[in-house]
Amino acid sequence: MATKSANRLVIDADSSGQTISRHIYGHFAEHLGRCIYEGIWVGEDSPIPNTRGIRNDVVAALRKIRIPNLRWPGGCFADTYHWMDGIGARAKRPSIVNVHWGGVTENNHFGTHEFFDLCAQLGCEPYVCGNVGSGTVREMAEWLEYITMPGQSPMSDLRRKHGQKAPWKLRYWGVGNENWGCGGNMRPEYYADEYKRYACFCRNFAGDSLYKIACGANCWDFRWTEVLMREACRHMDGLSLHYYCGSGGENRSATQFGEKEWWHQLLHAWRLEALLRRHVAIMDSFDPTGRVGLILDEWGTWHAVEPGTNPGFLYQQNSLRDALVTGISLNLMNRYSARLRMANIAQTINVLQAMCLTEGEKMILTPTYHVFEMYAVHHDAALLPAELATATRPCEKEALPVVQVSASRDAAGRVNLTFCNLDPESAQEVSVEVRGMSVKKISGRTLTAAEVTAHNTFERPDAVAPVDEVEAKRLKAGGLAVKLPSKSVVLVTVE
Ligand code: AHR
Repeated sequence: MATKSANRLVIDADSSGQTISRHIYGHFAEHLGRCIYEGIWVGEDSPIPNTRGIRNDVVAALRKIRIPNLRWPGGCFADTYHWMDGIGARAKRPSIVNVHWGGVTENNHFGTHEFFDLCAQLGCEPYVCGNVGSGTVREMAEWLEYITMPGQSPMSDLRRKHGQKAPWKLRYWGVGNENWGCGGNMRPEYYADEYKRYACFCRNFAGDSLYKIACGANCWDFRWTEVLMREACRHMDGLSLHYYCGSGGENRSATQFGEKEWWHQLLHAWRLEALLRRHVAIMDSFDPTGRVGLILDEWGTWHAVEPGTNPGFLYQQNSLRDALVTGISLNLMNRYSARLRMANIAQTINVLQAMCLTEGEKMILTPTYHVFEMYAVHHDAALLPAELATATRPCEKEALPVVQVSASRDAAGRVNLTFCNLDPESAQEVSVEVRGMSVKKISGRTLTAAEVTAHNTFERPDAVAPVDEVEAKRLKAGGLAVKLPSKSVVLVTVE
């Protein structure tokens, strides 16, 4: 393995950095393709092991990555979702057409009660997205009353009638999804007014504060952020943003690609840095104290669907390249965590850049899942300043840093460094100066594979999986030297 060694990293281990919210490591599950149905919900009578209809293998896998929150029911589906269709005896719930995703019949067997049960099983916080596109203010207000009202009221009585005595705990509430597109094709000025009208009637009746999230921009639409911040800033707690970094270019295959597509994809993942920087700058100008959080509630890769699958179901494979996209993106999100309070990768199971893929009773973990598991060390940790000098690679007229990193200190005082080596050919050596800490012990984990296209299948579920090894040593002069294999994501823990 060829090695290059021009990388030098300086860490301030004793810096009192801001907290990286664990909610940046959040997820998103929509009524789309086989995400909810098959991926999560199999029904109580299924031969697939389940707890009250929710598959046990998926719950166990997601608990292992300490899933902090789950956004539901969409996505575009949220803009057509009428919550009353999803309560009461399942056999009596109406069937509807999922107009955005394949035009398939949706039987509403997974609704509010099932979603809150899922969150309880996962031990995560619910993030519900309300319907502004085709729903009414009253419908949204009543849904919140149904979920959160402890005392007597028409909606809490209905909830009790359907078997749930106590209100559920709820903090995160989205007021619409993509209202510039599938949620109503609105102008930002119009949506800002609509947002204020809907948000005015959104209450958490249990007394917990409701964190209201306004629909934010699509990628590079800075005008949307500007108008929303100007017109509605004081009425919101969070403003969302969606960024899909696409695929390898014209060749959108998830698993059949070459070096050109590798670099294209990683460049587009890295562009998240400019995207966050520019949206944050706009938010800073209207909200200098940083009260309103930026919520990246949809992000990830978007490849061609797997051959032979329904194009409306967005079922894609997930390779080592997706692992690198994840590592690059999460490192950047940590860096912007002063303003970025939550992010939700799209989507949890069987859709887009998923954590798990299922086929009947079988379930496999994707390379993306493994990066989430390795990066869980950053949940609620203190972000540490990390200055990295590394080579850049010219890529589509931009200069892409070949090694990327994020550093944090956890509650036990351990320093965790998460590296990405984007170079598909050469290993990279990094010398690390750790200021404010003497290095006693080094451990770590490494995720890589022989081929850039490596991925897990039902036949070979562990083709891409991390090993509990890292090539690193303490230096006499202090600090450490780390060797990153080509095309790898590496976690280094320093004690
Ligand atoms: O995640 C798939 C879709 O992408 C979501 O439904 C929508 O919000 C976005 O356009």
